[in-house]
Amino acid sequence: MVGLVESHGGRSDAGWWDRIRPHSLGWVTARDRDGVLVGFVNVAWDGGDHAFLIDTKTRGNWQRRGIGTEVVRRAAQGARAAGCEWLHVDFEPDLAPFYVDACGFRPTDAAGLIHLYSHE
Ligand SMILES: CC(C)(COP(=O)(O)OP(=O)(O)OC[C@H]1O[C@@H](n2cnc3c(N)ncnc32)[C@H](O)[C@@H]1OP(=O)(O)O)[C@@H](O)C(=O)NCCC(=O)NCCS
Repeated sequence: MVGLVESHGGRSDAGWWDRIRPHSLGWVTARDRDGVLVGFVNVAWDGGDHAFLIDTKTRGNWQRRGIGTEVVRRAAQGARAAGCEWLHVDFEPDLAPFYVDACGFRPTDAAGLIHLYSHE
């Protein structure tokens, strides 16, 4: 996981996934022939109808080959099979071609986000 995060210029945090995993509904990985992790996405949930897609990552030199779209597709399939009705995601505007056009999320102007560290 550390290698995957660093491969796309992200800031890695050893032990991060071990802390997050117990709260996950499920996750999808993609690996190369040697078993190296090249794609990942996690699905958090509320214990009921709502699942939350988070931490989609594709290894730097494996990007733009459809891996991200495929891990998200399988994550959505798994969340539905687990009984969820809704799959949420939030992202920076420049990733709309990925989440909206490639993965099929419907954009909404009726969602919100608070950055709790900078909010009184
Ligand atoms: C976003 C990310 C997961 C996409 O993974 P990927 O395996 O390259 O995605 P795909 O190959 O399935 O891309 C499908 C389409 O989505 C769009 N797309 C993919 N990456 C994109 C990007 N970084 N910016 C804008 N559009 C993008 C393109 O239209 C692409 O089709 P094309 O290659 O024919 O042009 C990958 O760029 C990544 O790991 N980025 C760094 C981490 C990150 O920002 N994660 C998202 C957190 S919200």
